[in-house]
Amino acid sequence: MVTPGFSGVAHCSFIHTPGSQRYMQIHLKDISTAEAQNYLQHAIAPRPIAFASTISAGGMVNLSPFSFFNLFSTHPPVVIFSAARRVRNNTTKHTLQNAEETREVVINIVDYDMVQQVSLASCEYDKGVNEFLKSGFTPIAATLVKPPMVKESKVNLECKVLEIKYLGQEGGAGNLIICEVLVMHIDDSILDENNKIDQRKFHHVARLGGDWYCKVDESNLFKVAKPNVQLGVGVDALPAAIRNSKILSGNNLGQLANVTALPHIDPAFEDERLKHIVQYFSLNPIDMEMEIHRYAKELLVDNKVDAAWQVLLSA
Ligand SMILES: Cc1cc2nc3c(=O)[nH]c(=O)nc-3n(C[C@H](O)[C@H](O)[C@H](O)COP(=O)(O)O)c2cc1C
Repeated sequence: MVTPGFSGVAHCSFIHTPGSQRYMQIHLKDISTAEAQNYLQHAIAPRPIAFASTISAGGMVNLSPFSFFNLFSTHPPVVIFSAARRVRNNTTKHTLQNAEETREVVINIVDYDMVQQVSLASCEYDKGVNEFLKSGFTPIAATLVKPPMVKESKVNLECKVLEIKYLGQEGGAGNLIICEVLVMHIDDSILDENNKIDQRKFHHVARLGGDWYCKVDESNLFKVAKPNVQLGVGVDALPAAIRNSKILSGNNLGQLANVTALPHIDPAFEDERLKHIVQYFSLNPIDMEMEIHRYAKELLVDNKVDAAWQVLLSA
């Protein structure tokens, strides 16, 4: 069922599914650029932040943050960020002008220690104002390009601009600054004993919608085992009782279906809690299955996929 109109946003409708779910549907061409920006930036998040240092043809340094940013290729090593036309007055950013003029950028990666100063650097200072001075960061010379690097940043990428892709002429139109990374500088404090970046030591911050940011630290990091070259059997191959479980979540099914072949009962598998469940619910197979699924779910939360399979196979 579709309910057109909504008090906050014109040109949207609510869709009611046969269950209790309800969602809003917006056609982006029907809403203002500011509204579209609001919805898109809250939805497409978190976004890493490129703190871009550039220099004009006349040698004026500029430093500004951009969260429309990511890695797109490793060979060649290419990152892209977008310095958009201002929604407010359709002017272009100094960073874009400098990238057009001198075709060099240093992208400094933003971590939690820097975030307030980075935000300050995003003020719309006049052209020629050096945001290194305004935001209190320390410029240090790069090795291959003219824009200076931010000393306080734990990773600096010296880049040459390969191409600028203009996405439109209206306010809000992105301008993709496509950069090849020539040199990476990595602070020793975030390296492990093998000189690789230790994810636990690098506290990235990322931009979400409005004034929201998030911080990466050990308390919110987790791993997902990926099958690499092997194929997971897939959710569609799981036994129906598992696939249609009222207890197991989508994440749980994803873990179980990541095995390369459906496991068999292992006669050597012994588990006291499982024994207890089987004995206690021996006269009530429906409750037994629910309890077994609950136990498997707990094991999956601890990433004990093999044990979870053995528990489920005994249902
Ligand atoms: C964390 C953060 C992320 C931002 N991301 C973008 C972005 O992706 N694209 C953009 O055009 N402006 C972005 N801005 C706004 C620019 O940083 C701001 O317009 C800045 O004044 C541009 O400076 P410039 O004209 O000196 O290049 C962001 C601001 C902040 C604080």
